Amino acid sequence: MPHVLEILNERFTEAISRAAGAAHAGADPLLRPSAQAKFGDYQANAAMSLGKQIGRPPRELAEAIVQSGRWEDICQKVEVAGPGFINLTLRDSFINAQLAQMAADDGIGLPRAKRPWTVVVDYSSPNVAKQMHIGHLRSTIIGDAIARVLERLGHRVIRQNHVGDWGTQFGMLIEYLIETGAAAEDELKVADLEALYRAAQQRYEADEAFAAHARQRVVDLQAGDITAVTLWRALVDESKRHFEAVYRRLGVKLTDADIRGESFYNDQLPGIVNALEKRGLLHDSEGAKVLYPEGFKNTEGEPLGMIVRKRDGGYLYATTDLAAAKYRIEQLGADRLIYVTDSRQNQHFAMLFQALREAGWAPEHVRLEHVPFGMVLGKDRRPLKTRSGRNVRLDEVLDEAVERAGQIIAEKNPEMAGDWWRDAAEAIGTGALKYADLSGQRIKDYIFDWDQMLAFDGNTAPYLQNAYVRIRSIFRKGEIDPALVDPGAIAAEEPAERDLALKLLQFPEVVGGVAETLEPHRLCSFLYEVATGYHRFYENCPVLTAGDESRRQSRLALCDLAARILAAGLDLLGIRTIEQM
Ligand code: ARG
Repeated sequence: MPHVLEILNERFTEAISRAAGAAHAGADPLLRPSAQAKFGDYQANAAMSLGKQIGRPPRELAEAIVQSGRWEDICQKVEVAGPGFINLTLRDSFINAQLAQMAADDGIGLPRAKRPWTVVVDYSSPNVAKQMHIGHLRSTIIGDAIARVLERLGHRVIRQNHVGDWGTQFGMLIEYLIETGAAAEDELKVADLEALYRAAQQRYEADEAFAAHARQRVVDLQAGDITAVTLWRALVDESKRHFEAVYRRLGVKLTDADIRGESFYNDQLPGIVNALEKRGLLHDSEGAKVLYPEGFKNTEGEPLGMIVRKRDGGYLYATTDLAAAKYRIEQLGADRLIYVTDSRQNQHFAMLFQALREAGWAPEHVRLEHVPFGMVLGKDRRPLKTRSGRNVRLDEVLDEAVERAGQIIAEKNPEMAGDWWRDAAEAIGTGALKYADLSGQRIKDYIFDWDQMLAFDGNTAPYLQNAYVRIRSIFRKGEIDPALVDPGAIAAEEPAERDLALKLLQFPEVVGGVAETLEPHRLCSFLYEVATGYHRFYENCPVLTAGDESRRQSRLALCDLAARILAAGLDLLGIRTIEQM
């Protein structure tokens, strides 16, 4: 079922080609929901740019577009305003018919892609033998929301957790495990991987003999020495258990099967360098092999290089990423590659993408996208740290979120206790944490603030969860089964009803926008508007006591649709709804 924006777009294509000639049928009508009610429901801004392009006064062109279009059945008013804006007010009958279709659809009007992409979403990607910290939180949460949205629209999504499970640091870790006797235990269990890492690092820095042994362990590991490999694997497995526990608690869809760590590409790295060499893309720099992607310069204006093999023969992060991208395109059949990391890696990915194009491994039709995000800051506006200056651990943050949420709901509902309480605290606490991460423009840094994210008012998860709860309680109170509500009953009359209805109809276009721009905050803003629109409706339009039975049915149907959209929207963000709070 086409959604409102698609229908309007179609009508505009027709009108533009009649008014300006078929050659311009493809011109974008530049349609968007109007910012203010006095400009109608939607606004089309194409006449300005198109007029300039074909040398016709924009206002006159706008009039011609309005005259040439078929609006009768969908718009009650189409007007030209200002320099050539076209303002559209939809017909109530059209709004109601669209709502009925949406409500009758199990997929609530979300389109399934006609030509699905195969999308690889690389996200989370923490490092082995290090605890996941708050810095990995954003990648995990944003990446998961993006993957869910694309999946929901019918695309084939392949999640790739590019875990950092290889590198010279394993030499010192292995040596340390052997030295302390931990390696001799039957099963390696490390409660605190970060502490292990720090201890090993201290030994490495303090003791030259230890450091020499550690370096030898790196060589052993690369050569496949059984002791080194066994301990490396144990460390990797132990780390995976930690990651797994955090993913489960966060309600993130990553599983063990999505882990394809850096080590997976080891065997392919010599081939990658050879292939680049054959294409004449590599230069020698003091024994190292360097690729200079076109268009990159350092501050001195000299070409900026990407080292793919060090002088000692070692490979780098970038070499592995070249191999991984090639694998994803050629073996996994991806036509869209998405990488979710903080913005400090902007340049790495820009150079990587250019190198992939030059190597011919990423044909033009393959979209390569880095999805950068800002930092999590403390209230002092510096990167968030614990009081002792360490990185904040993710499992501790989760514990605190749930505990704080528990306190809030215990105050609000002193009579409720037990399992319900624990489950609700978990949903609200993790929801608040995730929503705080998703609701701002991702490229910006954000300030980590418990009170703000857990507030029951404002653009927060608890506010949205609460709007959902309010709707559900109407059905409970009226003892009405939402499944029996007639989707065709919706007839929005009052302004607050009509506003809510129009908002709900935007759901498909908003989700489509997130799939294009990879900006989950758009969905958050939309859901927030749905919730505020719902509250306004709720204050102005009695539901159970609507009086007239058909009006009561209409409002119940509108309530149910709003609840479904809130729940579906939150689910796309990876946030749970609860029935009471
Ligand atoms: N492990 C890396 C880090 O913690 C992130 C990896 C991102 N993915 C990639 N394909 N480079 O910074």
